[in-house]
Amino acid sequence: MAGGAVVNTSGAAKDYPGRLTLFVFFTCVVAATGGLIFGYDIGISGGVTSMDPFLKKFFPVVYEKKQLAAKNQYCKYDNQLLQTFTSSLYLAALVASFFAATVTRVLGRKWSMFAGGLTFLIGAALNGAAENVGMLIIGRILLGVGVGFANQSVPVYLSEMAPARLRGMLNIGFQLMITIGILAAALINYGTAKIKAGWGWRVSLALAAVPAGIITLGSLFLPDTPNSLIDRGHPEAAERMLQRIRGADVDVSEEYADLVVASEESKLVQHPWRNILQRKYRAQLSMAIFIPFFQQLTGINVIMFYAPVLFDTLGFKSDAALMSAVITGLVNVFATLVSIFTVDRLGRRKLFLQGGSQMIVCQVVVGTLIAIKFGTSGIGDMPKGYAAAVVLFICLYVAGFAWSWGPLGWLVPSEIFPLEIRPAGQSINVSVNMLFTFVIAQAFLTMLCHMKFGLFYFFAGWVVIMTVFIALFLPETKNVPIEEMVLVWKSHWFWSRFIADDEVHVGAHHVQMAASGGKKLAAAEP
Ligand code: BGC
Repeated sequence: MAGGAVVNTSGAAKDYPGRLTLFVFFTCVVAATGGLIFGYDIGISGGVTSMDPFLKKFFPVVYEKKQLAAKNQYCKYDNQLLQTFTSSLYLAALVASFFAATVTRVLGRKWSMFAGGLTFLIGAALNGAAENVGMLIIGRILLGVGVGFANQSVPVYLSEMAPARLRGMLNIGFQLMITIGILAAALINYGTAKIKAGWGWRVSLALAAVPAGIITLGSLFLPDTPNSLIDRGHPEAAERMLQRIRGADVDVSEEYADLVVASEESKLVQHPWRNILQRKYRAQLSMAIFIPFFQQLTGINVIMFYAPVLFDTLGFKSDAALMSAVITGLVNVFATLVSIFTVDRLGRRKLFLQGGSQMIVCQVVVGTLIAIKFGTSGIGDMPKGYAAAVVLFICLYVAGFAWSWGPLGWLVPSEIFPLEIRPAGQSINVSVNMLFTFVIAQAFLTMLCHMKFGLFYFFAGWVVIMTVFIALFLPETKNVPIEEMVLVWKSHWFWSRFIADDEVHVGAHHVQMAASGGKKLAAAEP
């Protein structure tokens, strides 16, 4: 993430005075529409790739394969070019997020969002007007650049604007917008697929311009964050902005002073990338890599990208396949609400462990149901009731993800890095996430063709590994102020060995871990 961007929120975990003002609420809602755009992209591609007129025009080979009688269900969509259509966006986002980090830092979060929105708009127009595969893929790449910019700046913006006590909730608000975007895409695909003349896919792709327009215009009206203003040398404007967003009658002097200190400290860090490699940060570095990696290895995007294609593969008629995507989209949104309301009470670990276990059971059941009907040949039929059972277990799987790895995959990495490695840590988190989103998008249809129903066991196996990983290696972070997070690692059975006693600094004072026997925070177990 942008150097200095997240750094400045360091003091925010203290209980500063200030409430959720209407002003901050609206700015956060506008900024969070960046999530809407990301979600729309995730949800739209699978729907259009299951529409025959779209396939006929751009991927005739896939269309012909689909028409063959007695075909192998598992392989009918296996086509590298078709997968590139979906995945190119994420590769572009991965590359763009590095550039966006600089724009976000130097020009401010607002202009980064604006740049993202504008690139999106052009991408959407190109996609809606596409006459050949080239135009389609270039459009997707532009959308990806937009996603890169938005995903870089929006979470930073939200964290910096939100009152400290509501930061977790607002962070998941971004994920909520992602899920709403996915659902909107599913609904639109359902509607446009019915357009007889066969240009429905154009409407689906061009409508990405709506959320893009919202964020492009909205960003023009957004104020920049106090943190960014200080960083860019406008301290008076920063103080005025802080006063405005916290409430006119609120004493913001302590928060402001901490922001200034945090900004100065972050400027002293010359080599955040080298810093994060130090032994004492081994825990944080491991989480910055493993959490986004595992999030994608849950297999969630198989459902999010390819639900209509998957359901079509299972023998659903095209219409029912698109309807099933609407159903999983709805489950995704509502289950995310569950995490918003429980994450600070139940804690992260409980949600991770419960959600993970639920996903494992569901994946094994789905794999088995498909194995029974299609075996390894991929030839067979699914009666209605049977297919409904498959959809049910897929929904239970999506729900498990939506209150665990979905929101927590973004929340946990955002709250565990100490100031000096926060920008580097966040960058790693975002890029690992995009990289594996790309890998899954590119490989899924081929994997389905080769691994068949075993693909579901494959992902179940990964969820077993990640659930054990969480149980053993992730301490509970709920209600722990960010600047005290080091205590959590220091009292952890495994990670404590990487941190020397004299490396534990909390705010201004040293904490004698040895004296407390490392048992200071019960929440940190195991
Ligand atoms: C993930 C996306 C996924 C979405 C599903 C996000 O947290 O990063 O890859 O498609 O959740 O809701």
